[in-house]
Amino acid sequence: MGTKGKQIVELDVAELIAELNRAYADEWLAAYAYNYMGQVVTGRPAAKQLAALLLDTSKDELEHQQELAERIVSLGGKPVADVSKLVETSNDGYPTPPANEKDFEAIVRKVIEAERGAIEVYNRLCARTEGKDPISHCLVVHILGEEVEHEDEFESLLS
Ligand SMILES: [Fe+2]
Ligand SMILES: [Fe+2]
Repeated sequence: MGTKGKQIVELDVAELIAELNRAYADEWLAAYAYNYMGQVVTGRPAAKQLAALLLDTSKDELEHQQELAERIVSLGGKPVADVSKLVETSNDGYPTPPANEKDFEAIVRKVIEAERGAIEVYNRLCARTEGKDPISHCLVVHILGEEVEHEDEFESLLS
């Protein structure tokens, strides 16, 4: 980012980078867990539909980590380089898949819990960046909108 681009950020940039990095780690962990659950879920006829939704949502989370990485780099930071540091860097830890891959409901509940955590994280980031860093703000509003959709999609599987 150039001189003026940096000047307009009215936030502690190191702190903002650290917060974006925590969200970046959450996204990788969610993408991995959703992808994994999408690969192993079996059991009911509905498991095929759940697998497809998990794999599709995993792609959204991968897109989020990429968008966050771009913003972190443009702010002069570096995304987490060491994959073994993702859990400790994250806000919410690893959304560990339920041991029973036939437990449709436990899988859906695990995703809903992770999505609610993400909504809290991005809602906080929206408030922090509003009027202070329009580019990061736009990004976190966009991601928040998708996390809200994810929660809704998985909640509707339970009803
Ligand atoms: Fe996400
Ligand atoms: Fe999500």
